[in-house]
Amino acid sequence: MREIIPSWIRIPVIFLAVAGATEYFADSTEGTYALIEQPILLVFLGVVLLFLIGLEIILGAIENIMFQTLSPEAKVKFMKDREERLKPYRWENIVQKLTRSKPVSQERDIELDHNYDGIKELDNKLPPWWLYSFYASIVFAAGYLFYYHILDGDGQIQEYEKEVASAKLAIEEYRKNAPDLVDAQSVTLLTEQADLDAGARLYQTNCMACHAADLGGGIGPNLVDDHWILGGGVKNIFSTISEGGRAGKGMVAWKSILKPREIQQISSYIVSLEGTQPTNPKAPEGEVWTQ
Ligand code: HEC
Repeated sequence: MREIIPSWIRIPVIFLAVAGATEYFADSTEGTYALIEQPILLVFLGVVLLFLIGLEIILGAIENIMFQTLSPEAKVKFMKDREERLKPYRWENIVQKLTRSKPVSQERDIELDHNYDGIKELDNKLPPWWLYSFYASIVFAAGYLFYYHILDGDGQIQEYEKEVASAKLAIEEYRKNAPDLVDAQSVTLLTEQADLDAGARLYQTNCMACHAADLGGGIGPNLVDDHWILGGGVKNIFSTISEGGRAGKGMVAWKSILKPREIQQISSYIVSLEGTQPTNPKAPEGEVWTQ
């Protein structure tokens, strides 16, 4: 082994393996590196590196000394044996094994007697790298056929659909835990008393001045009759409150002032009072709104 892999490959590979293992096994907080968090580990790796280099030098020296003690004939024999042992690992030999190609000088031996206007054909051996890749592809094809066509494994469309479905579930889960993500599309009617009370409080602070304390209307329209300028129902009301009314009418966009969750609470509060009788109702404006 030592003879096949040169030391300039061996030392970095062993060193990186040790460094990787250290990082893997040492404790570190999520998202950071143990090697950065604990500088003592770097000292340890430095020692490991020195040790590896030292070991290389010592082994090399021992080998050299042993070699020098050999008689001249033994030295020659040793070199020859070594040459012989290393032969299969020579690059040319590896390439030769992978391709089994004939050198150009020997092409005559494999020439076929086909002759097409001077173009001749060689009977080359199939290169083993190609041949074995071909066999591997046959094995792969069998597995592929079995999985997709006999076991009916998921094709790319099913895989896509499954991923989309699970992503949708994840989004829903996320929205549930993050109420401020509601928008006019996803808003739902809240019915919990706590939410309606919160909506009532917010309404009395922000909206009463124009829509009256009992929602009967004033500067702004009546919010409890069945007529709506901008559409009734929790989704439309949510959207009107967050985006504002028609330009110049005096109903501003509240989304920069109120949180989505708060707008949802006010909208639900308004819907909950639908059909009540205000003391001094403003005349209906807009159209009768049906679902
Ligand atoms: C400065 C006065 C004013 C304030 C404050 C105000 N509004 Fe309005 N609001 C209006 C006016 C004016 C309109 C009519 C807009 C239009 O015609 O486009 C309106 C329209 C609306 C509508 C749509 C009614 C319909 O018939 O479609 C809703 C819902 C509404 N306001 C809710 C609220 C809520 C909730 C608040 C408090 C967060 C609020 N408004 C604060 C003036 C006000």
